[in-house]
Amino acid sequence: MPERYTPGYSSNATNFMAKRNLDTHGAFFKPYLRPGMKLLDCGCGPGSIALGLAKAIAPGTLTGIDREVSQIRIATESAFTQAVSNANFLEGNIYALPLRDNSFDAIFSHALFEHLQEPVQALLELWRVLKPGGIIGLRSPDWGGFLIAPTTPELDKSLSYYKWLQQQNNGNPYVGRELRALLRETGFTNIKASASYQCYEPLSAIAEYLALRIEASENIDQAVEKGWTYEQSLTAMSRALREWSQHPDGFFAQAWCEVVGCKS
Ligand SMILES: C[S@@+](CC[C@H](N)C(=O)[O-])C[C@H]1O[C@@H](n2cnc3c(N)ncnc32)[C@H](O)[C@@H]1O
Repeated sequence: MPERYTPGYSSNATNFMAKRNLDTHGAFFKPYLRPGMKLLDCGCGPGSIALGLAKAIAPGTLTGIDREVSQIRIATESAFTQAVSNANFLEGNIYALPLRDNSFDAIFSHALFEHLQEPVQALLELWRVLKPGGIIGLRSPDWGGFLIAPTTPELDKSLSYYKWLQQQNNGNPYVGRELRALLRETGFTNIKASASYQCYEPLSAIAEYLALRIEASENIDQAVEKGWTYEQSLTAMSRALREWSQHPDGFFAQAWCEVVGCKS
C-alpha cells in the first residue's frame, strides 16, 4: 500500500500547522543557522517555520519544498504578506527532489518523517542535495511519549485510533526515537540528539484537529473489518476528545525528538 499523508489538507489541519514558528518548533536548529546560508526546508507545509528560517539566514536563500501544491501557494502568499524576499517555495517530493546535487549548506525537515514509508530513501535524497560539510536537522514527534490527563477509555481509544490511521498510511508514529539511527544509517556523522515537549494550551486546537481527522477517516471500512471500530464509535471518539478539551484539568504534552547531523 502506498504512503499517505494522515493529517490531510483541510483548513483546520493547515491552520494547525501554520501556528508553528521557528522559536516554538525549530529552536534546536537555530544555533546552526548563519546569515548567507543556502537552506532547504523539506515538507515545509504552510511555511510558518520556513519564513522564520529565511529571516534567520538573510541574505541567504531559503527553499521550501512540499509535495502538496496548496501548501506551496499558502507559503508563497505568506512570504509576500510578511515581505520575506529570500524565500521561494516549490512543489516536490522528498524521494525525487527537483534540486541539484550538493547545492545546500543546510537542510531542515519538521514533522515529515513520521509520514514516510521509506525514511532512508528520503534521507539519501537529502544527502544528495546537501553540500559536503553541510548539516541536517530533523524533528518529529514520538507517540510513545505523550503525557495526557485526565484519561478515559474513549479518549485513549481515540488516540490509539489516530495512531492506527497513521500506521495504516505507512507512517511511523514512533519515528522520533529512530531519527538518530536513520541519520547514522544514511551516513551522516557528528549526530546530536535531543528531545522536547510541547504542551498544548488551550487543548481545543489539538483536540479539534484530531477529532476532525478521525471523523473524516477514509479507512473506516478497513477499521471496521479489523474490528477496530464501527462507524458510530468514531462519533464517540471525537466527542471524547472535545469533552476532554473543555475539562478544567485537561493536559496534553507531546514529545518531539530532534537530531542534527553532518555530511562529512
Ligand atoms: C505535518 S506537515 C509539517 C509542515 C511543517 N514542516 C510544519 O511542521 O509546520 C508535513 C508536510 O510534509 C508534506 N509531505 C508529506 N509527504 C511528503 C513527501 N513525500 N515529499 C514532500 N513533502 C511531503 C505534507 O504535504 C505536509 O505539508
